[in-house]
Formats: sequence, structure tokens, C-alpha cells
Amino acid sequence: MSERLDDVKNRVISCTNCNLSKSRTNAVPGNGNYHSDVIFVGEAPGRNEDLQGKPFVGTAGQILSEALEYAGFTRDQVYITNVVKCRPPNNRQPITEERTACRPYLSEELEIIKPKIICILGNTAYSSLLDGSEITKNRGKIVKSDGRLYFVTVHPAAIIYNPSLRQVLKDDFVFLAKSLDKLRKGLDVEISQ
Ligand code: URA
Ligand code: SF4
Repeated sequence: MSERLDDVKNRVISCTNCNLSKSRTNAVPGNGNYHSDVIFVGEAPGRNEDLQGKPFVGTAGQILSEALEYAGFTRDQVYITNVVKCRPPNNRQPITEERTACRPYLSEELEIIKPKIICILGNTAYSSLLDGSEITKNRGKIVKSDGRLYFVTVHPAAIIYNPSLRQVLKDDFVFLAKSLDKLRKGLDVEISQ
């Protein structure tokens, strides 16, 4: 257990730093293994997450779990969080003010867990963490920014609308798992510019 992460969780649960606190049922702090060497970052909680207070427990969560297992990860091995911790009404994308207000929590999660790689799930996490507007260029690749390594892939919910991405996500996670293995052994991984 990490007391520092528990402290972040408790502050998220009672946070009123942006307007999303008014419409949420539950805030959704990050969840999973405090010792994970990879953190998965999604966009924002959806309906099921808002009701249960846990990230990725709805349809997108099932797709995420399936792809993780395909690559040999289990949900309880890894740490999963979102750019914003409260559900935007009607699942709209979180606006800049909300992302900015919520950013310190994600920064603390990254600082405390110190993962070897941060896995970006989709455009919102991509633009929030890497300042990029479109993930296509770097999807499936490892990018270095401010001394951290990021792996970029699609959002699991994108698969609901575009089933051909299901295998893309799975193959990306296989590549991520292999890259993590290399990093654990102190070997180099290929970094995209
Ligand atoms: N989509 C996300 O981005 N995060 C969740 O927690 C659930 C769905
Ligand atoms: Fe606080 Fe983040 Fe929820 Fe806004 S989205 S109320 S900043 S926890």
C-alpha cells in the first residue's frame, strides 16, 4: 500500500476543483498496483465508472481487460487512471479547464509510481500528456518527453465504433509488454522522434 497514493485518492474523492464535481455521482481515482511499472491513462470516467467509482469497468473496460490479457498483463498487475477523474456530462470530452484542474492528480500518480512507461490510451491523453493533436503518427510507438517514456495507442472505446482496431490494440499491448521486458533487463527500446 502506498500512503501517498491513498492520500491522492482521498483528495480526488472529495475534490471540487472543477465543475465536473457538480454533476458526478462518484469521482474515479486511479486504481491498481502501486508497484506497476506501467500506467495506463484514459480520458475520463463514463457512466459505469461514475456509478462504481472505479476506472474502466464498463464496455471500454472489458475491451481494455481483454487486450491486456492477450498481451499477458492482468488488471491487478497494472495501474489504470484517467486524465480527468470525474465524468463529463453525456461523456463529452473534458474541456481545457477541467484537464488543467485535474492535472496535479495525474502528475502525482506518475511521480509516486514512477512507471517505466506511461501508456497513452487515445487522443485526450495524448494531447494532455504530449501536447500532440493526433495520435496517428505515433500510434504503436514509444515517445520520449521530459525524460519520460510514453507508449501511444488507441482508446479502447474507439473499438466500439471501429472493430478493426481491436487487433491493433492487442498487438500494441504485445509490443508494450515486450518493450517493458527489455527495459526491466536494462536493454534499449526503439524511441520514435
Ligand atoms: N473511458 C475512459 O477513458 N476511462 C474510463 O475510465 C472509462 C472509459
Ligand atoms: Fe476535481 Fe478532477 Fe473531479 Fe474536477 S475532474 S472535480 S479537478 S477530481
